[in-house]
Amino acid sequence: MADSGLENRKILLGVTGGIAAYKGIELVRRLRERGASVQVVMTPGARRFVTAQSFQAVSGESVRDDLWDSEAEAAMGHIELARWADIVVIAPASADFMARVVAGMADDLLSTLCLATDAPVWLAPSMNRMMWANAATQENVRVLEQRGIRLIGPATGDQACGEVGPGRMSEPEEIVETIVASGLLSSDRLAGRHVMITAGPTRERVDPVRYLSNHSSGKMGFAIARAARAAGARVTLISGPVALPTPYGVTRIDVESAAQMHRAVHETVADVDIFIGTAAISDYRPVATSAHKMKKTGESLTLKLEQTTDVLASVAALKPAPFTVGFAAETRDIERYASEKLERKKLDMIAANKVGEDSGGTIGFGTDENQLTVIWAGGKHELPTASKVSLARDLVALIAERMAATENQRNNRSA
Ligand SMILES: Cc1cc2nc3c(=O)[nH]c(=O)nc-3n(C[C@H](O)[C@H](O)[C@H](O)COP(=O)(O)O)c2cc1C
Repeated sequence: MADSGLENRKILLGVTGGIAAYKGIELVRRLRERGASVQVVMTPGARRFVTAQSFQAVSGESVRDDLWDSEAEAAMGHIELARWADIVVIAPASADFMARVVAGMADDLLSTLCLATDAPVWLAPSMNRMMWANAATQENVRVLEQRGIRLIGPATGDQACGEVGPGRMSEPEEIVETIVASGLLSSDRLAGRHVMITAGPTRERVDPVRYLSNHSSGKMGFAIARAARAAGARVTLISGPVALPTPYGVTRIDVESAAQMHRAVHETVADVDIFIGTAAISDYRPVATSAHKMKKTGESLTLKLEQTTDVLASVAALKPAPFTVGFAAETRDIERYASEKLERKKLDMIAANKVGEDSGGTIGFGTDENQLTVIWAGGKHELPTASKVSLARDLVALIAERMAATENQRNNRSA
């Protein structure tokens, strides 16, 4: 059931002559962990930084680095190699290599492959910040993007040369996640489906400077949005205030309050096939919002709160309703509360997790890891502690599976 997003995919990894060439080793490891086959092609420049033997050891394949290697060409010629790849990733991509691609050069094996392939090409630039900022490089970036070549990064931070700024190669994990999330290698499990996900907290204003909110970081919802997109779905992500970048290829709508979340959901939900409510939407809001900052009075203060509209229940009550999945973040008795919520709100599925002090402070809100107990009418599945990214993938696979089963049941009943 688990879908790594890269199972059996064929990835041609190009490594060029930059300081970050060593990070390519880690990248090969991570791609292979996800089940991909990796063929490494090095430029002569790359070989000055890392040996072909290192890449051979981690990729399990002999490394190609010579356009004129007749023995290698006899096994798989460069044109066959270009056709073999489902995707071409160049990491690190040097300034020189990017310029050669822009110029359409074919003076070594890797640049020739870039010209000869019709597979999507990703570049992860890596260079000194001045080289990156240089007008020539920036012009090359513009042309590459115009031609449909995708760039990952570069990241900003400490550089090998002692400087600080943009130009560092993105970390291998980020490169892998970006490729998976792009949907270019998608499993098509949710192709043709529209998935709506709510994420993050809401803010209920007390006065112009204060609000009621919670600790939700939005990480789980954003990871699910990526996973759904990688499974081929069209994804709409409605998010409360969070500090997270929009996942590739996902339509994002930003809101602040529970009322805005409710409105944004119902404006778009009509053609949604799957609704996943991960947002921690405030159950209550102040009855009145003060127009001016409230002053200290020396007295105690009572805030009168009123209930907000339940977004999840309102979606599940639609006729017809999308396949509706809720989240239950509980501090105790999680399965009991989750089952009650599943029934009360008439959900198709609920994913329960433990949050707060009881969870030892290591899982739940704000963290990168989580664990989920997924419950539906007549069934249950445990997703043990893992990164939110990997949990999101498994949850999306489970949702696709359950949704197909529900649709089958409905069809059988109406037949
Ligand atoms: C020690 C050293 C480090 C280098 N690091 C980088 C780098 O990080 N990024 C880059 O674009 N070029 C870097 N260069 C320059 C490239 O190696 C050079 O432009 C080379 O022609 C790249 O060729 P290739 O892309 O075919 O491998 C470095 C050169 C040296 C000598």
